[in-house]
Amino acid sequence: MTSTKHILITGASSGIGAACALHLDRLGYRVLAGVRQEADGAALKERSSDRLTPVNIDVTKSDSVANAREAIAEITGDGGLFGLVNNAGIAVAGPLEALPLDELRRQFEVNVFGMIAVVQAFLPSLIRGGRIINMSSASGRVAFPFVGPYAGSKFALEALSDSLRLELRPSGIFVSVVEPGMVTTPIWERSMETTRDMLADLPGEIQDKYRSMADAVERAAKKSMRYAISPERVAGVVAMVLRARRPRARYIVGIDSMIASRVVRFLPDRLRDWVLTRAIGLPR
Ligand SMILES: NC(=O)c1ccc[n+]([C@@H]2O[C@H](COP(=O)([O-])OP(=O)(O)OC[C@H]3O[C@@H](n4cnc5c(N)ncnc54)[C@H](OP(=O)(O)O)[C@@H]3O)[C@@H](O)[C@H]2O)c1
Repeated sequence: MTSTKHILITGASSGIGAACALHLDRLGYRVLAGVRQEADGAALKERSSDRLTPVNIDVTKSDSVANAREAIAEITGDGGLFGLVNNAGIAVAGPLEALPLDELRRQFEVNVFGMIAVVQAFLPSLIRGGRIINMSSASGRVAFPFVGPYAGSKFALEALSDSLRLELRPSGIFVSVVEPGMVTTPIWERSMETTRDMLADLPGEIQDKYRSMADAVERAAKKSMRYAISPERVAGVVAMVLRARRPRARYIVGIDSMIASRVVRFLPDRLRDWVLTRAIGLPR
């Protein structure tokens, strides 16, 4: 089955974005796959049908977003966009006491301001009944130590999505967030690499202060990778949102995300801190 529905996905070069692009392409949608490198677009094309079109878009650069809007308007013509999947994201980690503010800004530039920039640019092209799908995370519901920047960006994305959903209801555009737990993608390895470099540049006493906590968080993260789900499973949920007659506000994906959203989030603060301290093995 082929569809005339165009779907723009940001951050489609790898992980969840690539899985969404390929899955939606297989389902017959006309996928506009947002990438930053030509080679990533070419790699996607090799694995997809002729319907898939790579589009260069860096969500943090207004020129790039504007160029993508022009390119996409030419492709979609009067048909407009049916779906916008705001998936591009990075994970910045580190102790907030010493986190360089530029790192915090970089985190929010991609996951928060980038998402809104893309929404603002493409809203006029979204047709009535169309969908905005924002890729959140279990970290948008529960904040762990050391991933404060990432969790902060996803909490912000959740709040912005709630506001947007109500604002766009009269326009007949649905806004949903997808909240996966751990997913097997390159994001955490990329994050750990930059975090290790950043920690190595911090003053010795800060490194000593946080070393055991950093080790505990890294151990817990590696352990939880055992329960990680595949990006294809998240792509399946994105497809479900696109096909739903009335999409829900939130879609939880994975058992760890379910526990975070349905249990941990509602614990009284002291109990939650106690549970997280023990579960992660944090120094007490
Ligand atoms: N993996 C998980 O455990 C997990 C769990 C919950 C939610 N998520 C969310 O899922 C989304 C996708 O992450 P992933 O796990 O699939 O990681 P990933 O494989 O590292 O993919 C991230 C994507 O975002 C793109 N990106 C980064 N900065 C960008 C920018 N400035 N402009 C446009 N695109 C940019 C990357 O493109 P380049 O290749 O060009 O850098 C890449 O395509 C993120 O929003 C993440 O927070 C992930």
